[in-house]
Amino acid sequence: MKYESQKVAKLYFIGAMTLFALQIVFGLLGAVLYVNPTGLPDFLPFSVVRMIHTNALVVWLLMGFFGATYFLLPEETESELYSPFLAKLQFWLFFGAAGAAVVGYLFGYYDGRSYLEQPLIIKLGIVVVALMFLFNCSMTLLRGRKTVISNILLLGLWGVALFFLFSFYLPANVILDKMFWWWVVHLWVEGVWEVVMASILAFLVIKLTGVDREIVEKWLYVIIGLALFTGILGTGHHYYWIGTPGYWQWIGSVFSALEVAPFFAMVIFCFMMVWRGGRDHPNKAALLWTLGCAVTAFFGAGVWGFLHTLAPINYYSHGTQVTAAHGHLAFYGAYAMINLAMITYAMPQLFNRAPYNQLLNMWSFWITTSGVAFMTFTLTFAGIVQTHLQGMLGMSYMEVQDQLGLFYWMRLGAGGVTAAGVVLFILSILLPMGASTASSSARPRPAE
Ligand code: HEM
Ligand code: HEM
Ligand SMILES: [Fe+2]
Repeated sequence: MKYESQKVAKLYFIGAMTLFALQIVFGLLGAVLYVNPTGLPDFLPFSVVRMIHTNALVVWLLMGFFGATYFLLPEETESELYSPFLAKLQFWLFFGAAGAAVVGYLFGYYDGRSYLEQPLIIKLGIVVVALMFLFNCSMTLLRGRKTVISNILLLGLWGVALFFLFSFYLPANVILDKMFWWWVVHLWVEGVWEVVMASILAFLVIKLTGVDREIVEKWLYVIIGLALFTGILGTGHHYYWIGTPGYWQWIGSVFSALEVAPFFAMVIFCFMMVWRGGRDHPNKAALLWTLGCAVTAFFGAGVWGFLHTLAPINYYSHGTQVTAAHGHLAFYGAYAMINLAMITYAMPQLFNRAPYNQLLNMWSFWITTSGVAFMTFTLTFAGIVQTHLQGMLGMSYMEVQDQLGLFYWMRLGAGGVTAAGVVLFILSILLPMGASTASSSARPRPAE
């Protein structure tokens, strides 16, 4: 760590891990309700549990992106952050708004649209937070060295804020309402978030492998070009059955099938760079998360996305557990893992220690990833049975659910494994145990 102001990232990473833990607790509660629908007190109905699970997810991922940006921007721009104070204030506002939203949800204050349930006042708070963040980062960038990574990262982050504005647009026509809902939900994860992910990946790859910046930059342009070219019209895969014209079935199928390409490119990019790079970076755990992120994102988003993205298949599989299987592996692989990679890379530096809890951290990688993978498999099998019985044979929803109990028990088990992995991860980052800190200053600092 070369710049004092990078320290604000610590606050964001701790906040992100806290909300990650909250997300997992509510995931487990949701899984309990699936196998025992009357198992929780009345103020925790499935709808509220699910909402806290998905909202905590999105908020901790954003918080991680903010932290990652504050960490990497000074190094990229070779200057201190414009205002570390504003960054801290922004954190507490965001954390406060997230807390208020959760408490509000438990008391019934929410609005119906999935992922965007936040009451208006909270949404306005989020906009203020986003403006503070963009102002701070853009001013830092304008003052400092402008690298391709920092420019593209900021482009992505401005896009994230821009598309969030569509959450305020509530057309009375239910078809238009659905169409624009996807402008936030889809254009985030299959558009601008990919841009953010690719930039953070590029930063980590340069640091961990020592490969020339020029090569990484060329890859970064290709990846974000592919992501935006396919992802924008790929939104069409959500327009098949909501009342939009039939041509969306073609546009959505073709462009969303191509969405596999940027995720595949990220895998090739990471492995090529590690293979070419000469650097033997001491933080092996960060490299494991970086490579794991690219691979798992490719499976979760690319393979599990492609599985049900063509209109003739989606006609049967729409809204089944296949969707939930894909949602889990994609969100985990792409956006949870990129954050966990960055936290694993940055936190030892922020705590001024050598990265010595690596063994524990690597165990957490394998346990968490196996847990989510097993959850994905059980939900995929549940989804295939459901697609067959409900989508193709026309059995009723509840009748089919009766057949799926075993899968839901296995999902709960896999969730327990995932939760154990997450606890280990948090411990590996926060606990100062293991080798001594003395080696941190003796260890030669990597060149970049
Ligand atoms: C990291 C990137 C991605 C993430 C985080 C993600 C996440 C999700 C989530 C959470 C849903 C459920 C939305 C809802 O109905 O509430 C969903 C739906 C869907 N995703 Fe993705 N996705 C990603 C990439 C992709 C890609 C690349 C494809 C295609 C190749 C794809 C294809 C689909 C399809 C077809 C649906 C609709 C499923 C249905 O009809 O029920 N996704 N995605
Ligand atoms: C202990 C581990 C977890 C358990 C037991 C769990 C359980 C659940 C349950 C029960 C739901 C509601 C499904 C439904 O509405 O039918 C859900 C939804 C969801 N979870 Fe998890 N979850 C866990 C971890 C995760 C992780 C690590 C991520 C991502 C990083 C994640 C992302 C999501 C998403 C995106 C949805 C919405 C899916 C959709 O709309 O299809 N969950 N989860
Ligand atoms: Fe999508």
